[in-house]
Amino acid sequence: MNKEAKLRKEILEKVQQYYDEVHKNNNEFIPGKTKISFAGRVYDQSEMTHLVDSSLDFWLTAGRYADEFEKRFAQWMQQKYCALVNSGSSANLVAFSALTSPKLKSRQLLPGDEVITVAAGFPTTVNPIVQNDLVPVFVDIEVETCNIDVSYLEQALSEKTKAVMLAHTLGNPFNLEAVSEFCRKHNLFLIEDCCDAVGSTYDGKMVGTFGDLATVSFYPAHHITMGEGGAVLTNRGTLHRNVLSFRDWGRDCFCGPGSDNTCGHRFDFQFGTLPQGYDHKYVYSHVGYNLKVSDMQASVGVAQLDKLPHFIEKRKENFVKLKAGLKKYEDYLILPEATPNSDPSWFGFMFSIKENDHFNRLDLVEHLEEERILTRQLFAGNLTRQPAYQGVKYRVVGDLKNTDYVMRNGIFIGVYPGIDDQRMDYMISSFERFFKKKGLV
Ligand SMILES: Cc1ncc(COP(=O)(O)O)c(C=O)c1O
Repeated sequence: MNKEAKLRKEILEKVQQYYDEVHKNNNEFIPGKTKISFAGRVYDQSEMTHLVDSSLDFWLTAGRYADEFEKRFAQWMQQKYCALVNSGSSANLVAFSALTSPKLKSRQLLPGDEVITVAAGFPTTVNPIVQNDLVPVFVDIEVETCNIDVSYLEQALSEKTKAVMLAHTLGNPFNLEAVSEFCRKHNLFLIEDCCDAVGSTYDGKMVGTFGDLATVSFYPAHHITMGEGGAVLTNRGTLHRNVLSFRDWGRDCFCGPGSDNTCGHRFDFQFGTLPQGYDHKYVYSHVGYNLKVSDMQASVGVAQLDKLPHFIEKRKENFVKLKAGLKKYEDYLILPEATPNSDPSWFGFMFSIKENDHFNRLDLVEHLEEERILTRQLFAGNLTRQPAYQGVKYRVVGDLKNTDYVMRNGIFIGVYPGIDDQRMDYMISSFERFFKKKGLV
């Protein structure tokens, strides 16, 4: 072993020791004192050693770890191509922008075109539509799945409709059969926001493989993390080229960081009114961004990938336990239902309170939070009611009654792999204490 490799080995052994000393045993659970988050990162020494390993390379921008992650993650998601970006929001922006490319000719999305989506969810699923001067068309959801009510699809269609962009809400797939069929029938693009749904399947197939493009987030709350990070996946070479271009400053060239002349024709082309042979590295076919990931982020993701199958199993197991534990309160709670034909890799346990004379959402939220069980609502609730959307051009189909219902009455709590049996039992017992206090059991 040379001196450099020996030194690196020593440093990484120290990192492992640091993990063992500082991070490993801080998992004690004291009921009522230790907070139980709705989500969080789960890691061991391998994430920390990868991170330091990549920092010792000092390559900084996307490099060997990013390459490895993209290859392995594409395979895992059953897609041909994966492009890493710096967040799930960037993934949505890049995926959507890829459809605005003039390279798509008659299928190019243009300002004023319409995109069918829902108002119940995370803002950056919808923002790229607005940011590209297209018009979101909001349809209602079902309360049990918090996903699009597909019976509104035909009603939402106009001659301007060009795409559907939807998230699989909190891991629960939307009705992919109906939505895919609708998109096929009307020649629409479909973007699946899988930020909360890595590993969910529909009809035995991975979510993300049904649409034209899929997006993922690696923020710490998600199924696997890089701290900040995201990915755009597709099976279609042309769309992947557009994704890379929008991600990488809008350039036409697709050389990786630090490499030149991958296509072998760097000085052979003539574009627009640029001179013949103008350096392809500096030819821009799109008005793009720079949303690349660093190799330090990707290195953490590579370590997380090994844990992904176990994470998904644990999420499913926790969901089943929680649902069984809360079943007896069904007179008061609308519990989550997996979409027919699906096997969700749950992000959270979303449920709504049935409006009643004994308690409301706030009463239950205050009880759970006092007992250190963190709660969240369905992100923006109803985007059309948010301050940011007051000047935005959008269209609403129907009255978004269920969207408003979930906005007023819905909450979610955690099922992430950091919730062990002890924590799960405590969560279930906390509901028991609440319903006893209210004299309802
Ligand atoms: C459905 C959905 N899409 C997109 C995002 C954005 O991801 P990020 O936080 O990585 O930007 C989130 C964030 O949690 C999300 O839940």
